[in-house]
Amino acid sequence: MKAWLLNDFGLDNLVLRDTPTSEPKAGELLVKVGAVSLNFRDKAIVDGIYEPHKVPKPLIPVSDAAGTVVAVGEGVSRFRVGDRVNSHLYSRWIDGPPGPDEPDYCFGSPLPGGLAEYMIIHEDSAVRAPDNMSDEEASTLPIAALTAWYSLVDYGQIKAGHSVLVQGTGGVSIFAIQLATALGARVIVTSSNDANLEAAMKLGAVAGVNYRTHPDWEEQVLKLTDGKGVDLLLDVAGGNGLNQSIAATKAAGKIAQIGFLTGQTTELGLMPLIFRQTTIRGIAVAPRSAFDRMNAFLNENQIRPVIDKVYSFAEARQAYEHLERGAFGKVVIKIA
Ligand SMILES: NC(=O)c1ccc[n+]([C@@H]2O[C@H](COP(=O)([O-])OP(=O)(O)OC[C@H]3O[C@@H](n4cnc5c(N)ncnc54)[C@H](OP(=O)(O)O)[C@@H]3O)[C@@H](O)[C@H]2O)c1
Repeated sequence: MKAWLLNDFGLDNLVLRDTPTSEPKAGELLVKVGAVSLNFRDKAIVDGIYEPHKVPKPLIPVSDAAGTVVAVGEGVSRFRVGDRVNSHLYSRWIDGPPGPDEPDYCFGSPLPGGLAEYMIIHEDSAVRAPDNMSDEEASTLPIAALTAWYSLVDYGQIKAGHSVLVQGTGGVSIFAIQLATALGARVIVTSSNDANLEAAMKLGAVAGVNYRTHPDWEEQVLKLTDGKGVDLLLDVAGGNGLNQSIAATKAAGKIAQIGFLTGQTTELGLMPLIFRQTTIRGIAVAPRSAFDRMNAFLNENQIRPVIDKVYSFAEARQAYEHLERGAFGKVVIKIA
């Protein structure tokens, strides 16, 4: 099969090569990949800033895929040839709380990913792709949509009338706007540019704050929430901005610490955290059971993924460069 191989860190070391197609072992599915979508994680892996000591070389990168089962290993019972499936990042986390070593079984590093014509997925970690979505659309779900879903529903317990803040207009945040709006929440979005804010409001956000022209964006959020702050804040920016997130969240409110766009460490002011009694929870996507529940919700609410651009298989590097520049929603690579 043809596959993109990351031979070393850096986009120049991502090369298209012929490589053997794996045979599905007991319990495994051989999936003909229809499309993959890129997450910030995929770029961070190529850049060598995401758990670099765990990245095997060469690596078939990219975790999030949708495709069709073309062969099954012995004993497979959940799927059959012809079924359309999604990969699920934490391939062994099926339900309940995470085990201690879930990151060791993630697609796109350390396990081989989907930027190839074929991919092996264990039947326990595969998820039925939504019937009403193309492979390009379904490929956007495994990390971006599911992280937003788990943060809002399983952790945030968001109900109609609650307020939610999402940061920026990348993959996770756009899904969070769509899902939270469908749950009846009031969504405030931040962005570096006003055109993105307008587009985010068309998706359901009720207010936007430009964090470039308002570096003190948390004060704008307080003005928009009667001085109280939001019930739940999805923090994808990380770094020292976490202090601003605490200020923008209501007393005894919740922060889902999802990302690290501005930094993987933070200098945290403990007194505001203590006085505001904020709960900060690290989020690492979700178990497969949440994926199944989310797909039913997406279907019921007719939510369609927002795709900024679909690239061809040959244009994989351009897709990574697009993500680097910033995308509104998702960047997808069509394989088949
Ligand atoms: N823990 C998890 O389970 C999990 C899951 C998914 C993602 N993540 C992490 O979450 C982060 C976002 O991931 P993604 O895939 O959604 O990224 P993405 O699609 O690349 O989104 C990036 C967008 O974030 C916005 N942004 C950048 N810097 C910002 C800042 N300082 N404040 C507010 N917004 C900012 C920008 O939007 P504008 O152009 O509109 O400003 C940018 O386009 C990454 O760190 C990623 O690794 C974690």
